Amino acid sequence: MTEEERLQCKEIILEAGKRLLSTHTRHIEQKTDFKNLVTSCDKDTQDFLTRRLAQIDPEASFLCEENDLYDLSGKHIFIIDPIDGTSNFIHNYRLSAISVAYADHKNVLWGMIYNPYMDEFFEGILGQGAYLNGKAIHVRTQAMEQSLVLFGTSPYYKEWKKETFELASYMLDYCIDLRRSGSAALDFCYAACGRVGLFFEREMQAWDYAAGLCIVQEAGGIVLNYEEEKPDFTKKTSAVVGCKENVERFFELFKAFKEER
Ligand code: IPD
Ligand code: CA
Ligand code: CA
Repeated sequence: MTEEERLQCKEIILEAGKRLLSTHTRHIEQKTDFKNLVTSCDKDTQDFLTRRLAQIDPEASFLCEENDLYDLSGKHIFIIDPIDGTSNFIHNYRLSAISVAYADHKNVLWGMIYNPYMDEFFEGILGQGAYLNGKAIHVRTQAMEQSLVLFGTSPYYKEWKKETFELASYMLDYCIDLRRSGSAALDFCYAACGRVGLFFEREMQAWDYAAGLCIVQEAGGIVLNYEEEKPDFTKKTSAVVGCKENVERFFELFKAFKEER
């Protein structure tokens, strides 16, 4: 994809965000239970993005959250969460974002995450840095003890609830305070631009973090799963996100936490 084509993708994502803000009627459905919801806007936004992005790269395949769109056969892949933070969206909590990654089979080549409520556009371009509304961003390098820390609750995976909250309680003693946003994509962005010193979550899907992964790495940060390996951005994963020192510190504390448990 040329730079011009990448900029066209950016325009499409911005347009999708503006459309989200102007949509008033939304039909809400349960996916698996009362927690896991999808709205007509999630589906409309995904249809809009896939239709328009396919015009830019007609050979790319799509890995998207809604409608079982899980195709990795193309040379390039768009990985899309049309609305990350759907429950926030439903409750007008204003922390929802459109997340789009463009990848080959080795790397995410660029990631773009747009929160239309705050008009914040985060992007990371492989080898070219990470930006918030065009301005370069960097992960926070101050220690966790001098930082806010974000965690995700993996709300659709009950099996992790106990560990998640015990770990959060443990980590609270080693940071200024904890936050929970409701959008993993924005959690990655907030780590990338240094609003928080660390983000961790036990389980999320490829579309929740593929774009964020590129943004964080280009902002000088690292992303490891709970086994301290690099995640495969086409699969579900756990994630620890931040500067190298804070991610290492997380694993030191995680080990002590598991021993005490
Ligand atoms: C969810 C959000 C949430 C995270 C979940 C995700 P959705 O995505 O990112 O913060 O905790 O793991 O599934 O359902 O709002 O697109
Ligand atoms: Ca999501
Ligand atoms: Ca979603």
